[in-house]
Amino acid sequence: MIIAIDGPSGAGKSSVTKLVALELGFSCLDTGAMYRAITWKALEDGVDVNDAEALGELARSCTIDFEHEAGDPSPKRVLIDGIDVTGEIRTQRIDQNVSPVSAVPAVREALVAQQQRIGRAGNYIVEGRDIGTVVFPDAEVKVFLTASAEERARRRVAQNAERGVGSVDYEAVLADIIRRDEYDSSRDVSPLKPADDAVLLDSSPLTIEQVVQAIVDLAREAR
Ligand code: DC
Repeated sequence: MIIAIDGPSGAGKSSVTKLVALELGFSCLDTGAMYRAITWKALEDGVDVNDAEALGELARSCTIDFEHEAGDPSPKRVLIDGIDVTGEIRTQRIDQNVSPVSAVPAVREALVAQQQRIGRAGNYIVEGRDIGTVVFPDAEVKVFLTASAEERARRRVAQNAERGVGSVDYEAVLADIIRRDEYDSSRDVSPLKPADDAVLLDSSPLTIEQVVQAIVDLAREAR
């Protein structure tokens, strides 16, 4: 079974995905981490983030791996061509450059193919922007998880503080979230929008437990 969780940055997709996976015994796939890893590699190799052709070539030639620990559905480490970029992909440098990289059709094509291969291997809960629309249009459960920009900024700052990486400046994080929302929703390729058959969940007034329970219920109904 595939559970597709789409929605804007900071809606709580990662935390929710992990808890649903634990509850159902599924594995998690964080597709945003893959776009982030390609962005890291481009910056590292001095590839211009506006050079679509070079980025496509890079995405086709890189191998992204997720290393898991037994009993934990979320990967412990994210590797690109064997290099551990788990912490590096959460920095502001990547936040600021990932949108143009993820808007390149050839980059998406390469990563979508990898995502489909990984997801088809078992029961997966997959989070991203285009999972229900493009990557797994036949997913048994599709959820579009949202929250207000202010609520998402508050959560992202708390998450960054906890992880010890990324900005903890609320205004800067909010501005970045609004900028990325606009960019991700208005791009030509796979813009951020709910699939026609997705269940819309606004997490602003809900606790994380309530969101998790709603998705677990949808998955049990779909079985
Ligand atoms: O979920 P995130 O913030 O880690 O995603 C990082 C960026 O990657 C974000 O700007 C949108 C993009 N992305 C995408 O275009 N398609 C996906 N399936 C996942 C993420």
